[in-house]
Amino acid sequence: MAFMEAILLQGFSTSALLGALLLFVVVYLLFSGSRSQDEEQEPPGPKPLPLLGNLLMLDLKKVYVSLCELSKQYGSVFTVHFGPKKVIVLAGYKTVKQALVNLSEEFGDRDITPIFHDFNKGFGIVFSNGENWSQMRRFALSKLRDFGMGKRGSEDKIIEESMYLREEFEKFEGKPFDTSLPVSLAISNIISSIVYGSRFEYSDPQLHEMVQRAYENMKMVGSASIQLYNMFPWLRPFVKNQKQIVNNLRDNYKESEKLIKGLLKTLNPQDPRGFADSFLIQQQIEKDSGKKATLFHMQNLFYTVNNLFAAGTDTTTTTLRWSLLLMAKYPQIQDKVQEEIDRVIGEHQPVVEDRKKLPYTDAVIHETQRLANIVPTGVPRKTTCDVHLNGYLIKKGTSVFPLLVTVLKDENEWETPHTFNPGHFLNKQGQFVKKDAFMPFSAGRRVCLGEGLARMELFLFFTSLLQAFRFTPPPGVSEDDLDLTPSVGFTLNPSPHKLCAVKRS
Ligand code: HEM
Ligand SMILES: *[C@@H]1O[C@H](CO)[C@@H](O)[C@H](O)[C@H]1NC(C)=O
Ligand SMILES: *[C@@H]1O[C@H](CO)[C@@H](O)[C@H](O)[C@H]1NC(C)=O
Repeated sequence: MAFMEAILLQGFSTSALLGALLLFVVVYLLFSGSRSQDEEQEPPGPKPLPLLGNLLMLDLKKVYVSLCELSKQYGSVFTVHFGPKKVIVLAGYKTVKQALVNLSEEFGDRDITPIFHDFNKGFGIVFSNGENWSQMRRFALSKLRDFGMGKRGSEDKIIEESMYLREEFEKFEGKPFDTSLPVSLAISNIISSIVYGSRFEYSDPQLHEMVQRAYENMKMVGSASIQLYNMFPWLRPFVKNQKQIVNNLRDNYKESEKLIKGLLKTLNPQDPRGFADSFLIQQQIEKDSGKKATLFHMQNLFYTVNNLFAAGTDTTTTTLRWSLLLMAKYPQIQDKVQEEIDRVIGEHQPVVEDRKKLPYTDAVIHETQRLANIVPTGVPRKTTCDVHLNGYLIKKGTSVFPLLVTVLKDENEWETPHTFNPGHFLNKQGQFVKKDAFMPFSAGRRVCLGEGLARMELFLFFTSLLQAFRFTPPPGVSEDDLDLTPSVGFTLNPSPHKLCAVKRS
């Protein structure tokens, strides 16, 4: 039984937990009379048990797999009870697009679960709603444009960082190594440059600690015990991961506090170095103008900065690692990428302008994101009002999971949904073609704020690395032996593996 297994594996005080659950079921049965029957129009789903809901049908370590199974039975809009919590699940390109894009406002709030509330207390961008969300999102987007995507600024930063990353890879001299540490240091440095205006040396312990904490949190947020905590918040005292996450967050907070204090000392209002400077300048402007309820306070600054690191590091790192693993696994595809890079840009450092001239490489990056499917369940949304979808009523304030995996692998949209096939993004003439069902960044008013930046990073790091190195399995390991089974956290990571980066000449 997945539920029991999860509990045992997560090191709960098992008897205490089961005792508590049993007690609640009994109390519930005693006090809940007959359930109200006004659910005629609501989406179908498996019958829930009292309190436990459909928990016994869910593999909490791979929730997206269980939900995909259920969608085969219940269709593209269905109800699942995560314990006492009702969730509407959306499956398939047409339905997800209709909800997120066509009904963008209606499906546009975030569901702030207990662990998400622990993260940001309702401030910042990812786990906030209302004015906090709209002001922080708008401000961050405009500053990402200034310091991040779009402008030369971040392109130069990424190009510089990709040279450092190459040097790191070279140090292994073609011997097998785990790509996760060097890649995450490089990606984290991009966010550092945008937020603080400077990068860290790869040897800096501060950088290592930041990356380690971000990685641990991402892994723990996806754990079974945290999902149980989201359903039954009173389990908190038993959930070790929750305490560990809160500790890591406290350390992150201290860390940014130190860095921001340093920035304040040398702040020049005429010349902001990064996002944090701009925020501090805006704070001063709102203070000077006598604005009473400014949202440009330290909490929003810390949590927004925290969001940019948390949402921007692990996701991009994971995707880039998938791309290198897939190249090692499919050497003929790697041949074609390298042939295209050599032919079109030769020895020059790749720049964003080159993307148009590298349709095959671009298709490989898109196909990596499609197959890697790193946020399979999406990030939970909440309805802002009663809304009708596919003839069903979804009530205001209901939690909604847009199952992105069912879009990225929708059998009606992709020729070979489950295999790596760059042809999905190429026409007969070998030109790049966009696909509507390509939705790794989700869609609508909550669409990933870092999409432009992430796409720039993936292109520049990938082409720069493929230009310099041939990626192969370790000696004695065949391509077939490279495992594409994901290791599950909040994002889907490649399982632990090593690759060789052999210098090309
Ligand atoms: C390959 C890389 C990335 C992927 C696959 C990815 C994916 C996603 C997804 C699926 C969401 C949820 C959107 C929704 O609610 O439907 C999201 C939100 C978000 N992402 Fe990304 N992301 C990536 C990189 C980044 C980067 C580099 C940044 C930072 C600059 C970033 C910042 C954010 C933020 C702030 C949100 C919350 C938006 C909101 O709630 O309004 N992401 N991302
Ligand atoms: C959104 O959906 C409604 C009703 O299904 C439809 O009338 C409308 O044209 C759609 N809008 C867009 C932009 O697709
Ligand atoms: C911003 O978020 C905080 C914390 O959740 C909340 O108390 C406050 O009311 C919010 N402010 C606005 C204007 O929505």
